[in-house]
Amino acid sequence: MIRLLLDTDTAGDDTTAIMMALRASNASLEAVTINCGNVDFDQEVRNALYTIEVAGKSGDVPVYPGARHPLLREWETAERVHGKDGMGDSGFPAPKQRPESKHAVDAIIELVNSSPGEVTLVEIAPMTNLALAIRKDPAMARKVRHLYFMGGTNQYLGNVTPAAEFNMWVDPDAAKVVLHSGIPMTMVGWEICMRHGLLEGPELRRIAALKTREARFMTAVTRQERRFMKEVQGADAVSCPDSMTMAMVLNGAVATDVRKKFVDVDNESDLSRGATYVDHLGVLGRRPNVDVVYGASERLFREMLFRMLKGERV
Ligand code: RIB
Ligand code: CA
Repeated sequence: MIRLLLDTDTAGDDTTAIMMALRASNASLEAVTINCGNVDFDQEVRNALYTIEVAGKSGDVPVYPGARHPLLREWETAERVHGKDGMGDSGFPAPKQRPESKHAVDAIIELVNSSPGEVTLVEIAPMTNLALAIRKDPAMARKVRHLYFMGGTNQYLGNVTPAAEFNMWVDPDAAKVVLHSGIPMTMVGWEICMRHGLLEGPELRRIAALKTREARFMTAVTRQERRFMKEVQGADAVSCPDSMTMAMVLNGAVATDVRKKFVDVDNESDLSRGATYVDHLGVLGRRPNVDVVYGASERLFREMLFRMLKGERV
């Protein structure tokens, strides 16, 4: 069993990633931690708790609120993409489960230290909690089994600026700490998710037609993003960056081309704040620190997604 801790700014596709983890036959989701990101912080906490409830697991997975703002910068959210509540403005009821009182940073440190080499971290949000955990307990970094993160871009395909992807852009200072922490890690960049994980009109209609609790939930949660994509990109589509990352965690074959590279992030300039740089040619002569995903299986990802949406094990 893969033991997972998931750090999320729950809104939009974060919910699909959570549901996929909860349906995995080869993994156990042991903790969810919340980072500032997509929408109002307390709303993100409620969204995570409600998603766990939709998956029929209310009370089974503890949810720990963490960083309420980035390390050094003003926090800017993404309601325009996901709706004011981050859930397509669906008006979902309050969740039954309560969040834990322990801070996410301590939850991360304690879980990793309690089982050295066993816990896999999945980051689908800005990296503030992870950076704080590494700063608070630097030795913890050596005990993480692996970190998978959705973030950055491999050769500039920004979604919040021309150069930067949202998770990196919100807290590039935290990303810097994590990238240089020595944790073995895999990067799933925005460009891979756009190339292989974009669901378009016919697939979205197939999902809506499933009529399961999970499919109805996904359709509602992504409603605003679908409008946003039409408006901004002229495409009838919904992106799946977080669930695609989770699919790779659960099934290594979803990532079809992975290369070890040196990756860094810009936290100094304004124009390229949060831009990730992958040293393809090794011209910097730095030791590679990241397994970068260069290719993904659209077929396998969709198989896993549809199994989850049908209420089956993934
Ligand atoms: O840029 C995509 C990322 O930002 C995803 O994690 C999405 O959920 C949003 O948080
Ligand atoms: Ca996210």
